[in-house]
Amino acid sequence: MKKRPIEKAEKSLNKTQANLRVKTGIPGFDDLVQGGFPLNSSILICGGPGTGKTIFCLQFLVAGAQENKEKSLYVTFEQRAEALREQAKQFGWDLSSLEKQGQLHIISIPLEKITEKTIKDIQQIVKKEGIKRLVIDSLSTLVVNAPIYTTPSELAVKDVMGENIIFSPPIIGDFIVKRFIYSFIEQLRALDCTSLLISEASQSGEYISRDTLSEFVCDGVVLITFESLGGEFSRSLIVRKMRSTKNDEDVHPVEISEKGIIVHQIEK
Ligand SMILES: Nc1ncnc2c1ncn2[C@@H]1O[C@H](COP(=O)(O)OP(=O)(O)OP(=O)(O)O)[C@@H](O)[C@H]1O
Ligand SMILES: [Mg+2]
Repeated sequence: MKKRPIEKAEKSLNKTQANLRVKTGIPGFDDLVQGGFPLNSSILICGGPGTGKTIFCLQFLVAGAQENKEKSLYVTFEQRAEALREQAKQFGWDLSSLEKQGQLHIISIPLEKITEKTIKDIQQIVKKEGIKRLVIDSLSTLVVNAPIYTTPSELAVKDVMGENIIFSPPIIGDFIVKRFIYSFIEQLRALDCTSLLISEASQSGEYISRDTLSEFVCDGVVLITFESLGGEFSRSLIVRKMRSTKNDEDVHPVEISEKGIIVHQIEK
């Protein structure tokens, strides 16, 4: 297979284009995507359990807050805020101090508290606080629960005679989930912020995400895997998709160091 050489971001983009890139703060990553994520894009960070999705996203937010003074929001349905602060401490990231400075907001919403208002609340906070970097941990949890917080009135489908059509539950469930993914990602796109959506990886090789649709709707997909290579388990990362970007297409070894994630080049 013919490999494409990685072009340094500075070489391949002019100044205006470079300003439309959001630097991730993850060593080795930005060169894979011409200098960073496209500004205001929605990116799926996809992987199995323990692959480093949360660490990747935290690092992205901390870099934005520390280096660019950009305001960030981490929305988690998976962990308590305190657990996230503790996790970040391992890498020397002081989330509490960023929160005190107003640079970072953490919202932890337990599963049972997710309602139809949750999405609207997130959008409002992004607008009100001028959030530039947003993480949703995870899209998979939101999607799984979509049928619960979809109001009955939204489900009413009229036929040509103006009568309500009743679908069987499995069809309604699938319809709700698909419509939710489209509408949620579209709403994020309308915001003036770059969003990382954490997603569980699909178990089947046919799809990337567990919901099988978000990889098509998002602007970019980063897949992190944790697999056995020659008997030893190791993490690796590939940029599966990045709209408006001549992205690198190789698999890269990922290291979780004491300063966070480092993306390495493959030795050829
Ligand atoms: N200080 C550290 N040094 C090296 N590796 C670490 C360190 N802390 C955590 N890890 C590794 O990172 C993994 C957790 O990373 P992270 O929480 O980002 O995963 P995740 O993909 O979000 O997982 P989940 O799907 O369970 O939410 C741990 O399972 C561990 O293997
Ligand atoms: Mg996680």
